[in-house]
Amino acid sequence: MEDDILVKIHASSMNAVDWHIRSATPFMARLMGGSAKTLFMKPRFPILGADFAGKIESVGQNIEQFKIDDEVFGTVKAGSHAEYICVSEKDVALKPVNMTFEQAAAVPTCGFMALQGLMDKGNIKSKQRVLINGASGGVGTFAVQIAKSFGAYVTGVCSTRNLELVISIGADEVIDYTKEDFTRKGESYDLIFDVVAKSSFSKCKSSLKPEGIYVTTVFGLRPILRKFWTSMTSSKKTIPYFGKPNKEDVILVRDLIEAGKVKSVIDRVYPLKEVAEAHRYMEKGHARGKVIITM
Ligand SMILES: NC(=O)c1ccc[n+]([C@@H]2O[C@H](COP(=O)([O-])OP(=O)(O)OC[C@H]3O[C@@H](n4cnc5c(N)ncnc54)[C@H](OP(=O)(O)O)[C@@H]3O)[C@@H](O)[C@H]2O)c1
Repeated sequence: MEDDILVKIHASSMNAVDWHIRSATPFMARLMGGSAKTLFMKPRFPILGADFAGKIESVGQNIEQFKIDDEVFGTVKAGSHAEYICVSEKDVALKPVNMTFEQAAAVPTCGFMALQGLMDKGNIKSKQRVLINGASGGVGTFAVQIAKSFGAYVTGVCSTRNLELVISIGADEVIDYTKEDFTRKGESYDLIFDVVAKSSFSKCKSSLKPEGIYVTTVFGLRPILRKFWTSMTSSKKTIPYFGKPNKEDVILVRDLIEAGKVKSVIDRVYPLKEVAEAHRYMEKGHARGKVIITM
């Protein structure tokens, strides 16, 4: 209690991982988000949702960084699709000053996923050629903007209806995946970030420069074995990863937002009572940016 912060949530956002855990597809998601006690028959936490933005209602006596009425945003393991949440100091940061609660709730998970994929795993550098596969989704819309903020030349892969959107958030080039296969264009990239896990290293290998890096959100034993095998046999790299919530990364993204380099792309907004509908929509896999839940 003395280390807790009570936040009145104004808005929360959905992530693909929420419906993966709920529906146990792939089952790996339920293994990570379920519990052996229930034989992994249901999610471990009854209230789903990781990201939130809201106002601090009360603070424990050991809390020094925050006070009542501070506007904050952050991410937790679960429980943000709710009116109130109890969090610790490491889970929250002050909300970007230039964002509404809805815009801020869109940021944490997709922001750190995009940042870690590009910076920690992809070792992104200025002037590199970077391709983002899945540029119009939750993580992709942040990845395009963050890659641009590093000074990269960015190609976004999306479908016809999202070409304009991906250009509008800064992509230098777009490839329509319904018309062209980016791996067959004869282009080569320093970094391919497959956010939506719709390609594979073997398909993308010839589109990587000699020291190129392929980062994917596909996780599991096979991509990990592939990573080690490739590191022994090629100058190219393949890196599967599962993002880790990290307050410092969320703050780095907030700095980019406040510098005007990154903004949230919001597709739909659902009231809390329609959260099931929001899941049904996300589950189709065609969200354009983020889906928001308001309280
Ligand atoms: N903690 C973590 O590690 C963590 C957190 C968040 C997300 N993730 C993972 O990251 C992945 C991406 O998440 P997300 O939030 O970006 O998902 P998302 O928002 O649901 O992605 C939807 C987007 O993907 C695009 N898309 C679908 N098929 C495509 C294809 N073949 N080629 C290119 N784009 C395609 C869709 O565009 P169209 O409508 O045009 O098809 C849509 O805009 C998920 O697999 C998720 O599990 C992991």
